[in-house]
Parts: sequence; C-alpha cells; structure tokens
Amino acid sequence: MTILGIDIGGSGVKGAPVDPARGELLAERVRVPTPQPADVDSVIEAVAEVAAQFDGFGSIGVTFPGVVVDGVTRSAANVDKSWVDAPAAQLFTERLGKPVTVLNDADAAGVAEVAFGAGRDQSGLIMMLTFGTGIGSALFLDGVLIPNTEFGHLELGGADAELLAADRAREVEDLSWEQWAARVERYLRHVEMLLSPRLFIVGGGVSKKSEKFFPLLDIRTPIVPATLLNNAGIIGAAIAAGQAAAGPGPQDPGAIQVDAAEPAPQA
Ligand code: BGC
Repeated sequence: MTILGIDIGGSGVKGAPVDPARGELLAERVRVPTPQPADVDSVIEAVAEVAAQFDGFGSIGVTFPGVVVDGVTRSAANVDKSWVDAPAAQLFTERLGKPVTVLNDADAAGVAEVAFGAGRDQSGLIMMLTFGTGIGSALFLDGVLIPNTEFGHLELGGADAELLAADRAREVEDLSWEQWAARVERYLRHVEMLLSPRLFIVGGGVSKKSEKFFPLLDIRTPIVPATLLNNAGIIGAAIAAGQAAAGPGPQDPGAIQVDAAEPAPQA
C-alpha cells in the first residue's frame, strides 16, 4: 500500500509517496516553501500543493511541529498561533479528500528511525531529539512511542532550552561548534539526569554534521546520528497513517507500535 508522507517544517513542506513496510520513498520528494506567516489556511494550501504532485496513494500522514492530540494541534511554538486547538486532521482530510493522520514532527522522525534507522532493534528507553528551528523529542519504550513529550521546552537556567540549544540558536547567534556543543551538552546532561535513556538519536539538519559536535560532548549516554536524514519525518508520517488505517492495536490506542519484532536481548 502506498501512503503519502508530508513533513511540515520551519522552512519547507516536503512530501513523497512511501512504502511504509520498507520505509522507502517511492518517488523523489517534492518541496514547497513553508508560507509565512505559517497560518492554518496557508499551510493547508501548501500541503495540498505537494499532494497534488502525486497520485496512487490511499491515505496521507502529515507531521506538525507542535503537540498533536487526536488530530487536534495543541501548541504552536514555531508556527502561527492559529494552529492552537485547530482540528488539523479533519481540515486536511476535507481539503485533500483522503484520510489524513497528523502527528508531531519529532515523533514521526523517531517512528521512522526506530522502525528502519538508528533505533532499529533497540530495546529499553530511547530518545530521539531533533535540533532544528526548535528542539523536538520522541521517547520510545521497547519500540512503542510515548507521544508528545516536548522535552525541547525543558527549562535550562531560567530559559526555554530550545532557545539556547536548537540549531537555530547556533545560526542566529553565530556560535562556534564549541560554544554550541557546550549548550547541547548541558541540555543532554539535564535530559539524561531526568530520564536515563539507553540511547540518544540526534536528528534535524545538523545531524549530518555530527562529526563537528559529537566529539565535543561529554555525556554518559551513547549518542548516534539519525540515519534516514531528511526523509525521517516523511517516512514516519506514512508509517503512522498506515497504522491508523489498520485500526488500533491491542495495546494503548494512543501509542504507536513501531517494531513488532522481538526486543533485542539485553546486554
Ligand atoms: C515544538 C515541538 C516540535 C519541535 C521541533 C518545538 O518547538 O514544541 O512540538 O517537535 O519544536 O519542531
């Protein structure tokens, strides 16, 4: 079954048809700029423009850079505030004429990494963090997503952590890799103190430059870059839409089971 995956980012709305069973794009992805302001109506039109480039898909998965509960967007840190409490899944479904599943962008990227990328066959508690315009988080226990964790907004020294340590802070403040890595290290140490994950998977555009800052990080938790690069959100959105089409699983209907395989043996 082909599913269209669409990733709404701070600068671009990207989409491609996906084979969710293999975690692979079936065509080259299409990108349109994210409208500014990124209000509900304009973003829906941008998503429709991407969807119009493809056919042959049964349903659509869309990522959103904020909290999404039951298809309703509940926060909007880096997009227009018209998204707060918008019935996003319903609005997309009406506009696109096909069933649409909406989920948080970091959750989607994590779902893809856990199913097909850096988190594959990892049991226990693992955490995906995306460093981009903001900091997104996705937490998994034995392959099951605990959605909408929002650990990018932990408070660090009185400030919102993503304002200090997102990749945007590095760019806007023109920080050296050493300066930025010191902030990321402080953030990761705080997260590991709170959660003791078994593994950090780092995504977002900056994960392609992991060799510039991973060696500067002094933390206890193993840390690896995401392996699906810019396509993790698109693939994860399609996986979530495929699972929604299949109906709720035996476990928590709010959680997304990404790996039905036996958990890997504990070390
Ligand atoms: C939002 C998260 C999102 C992250 C990355 C944060 O500001 O609150 O929901 O996952 O940015 O886009």
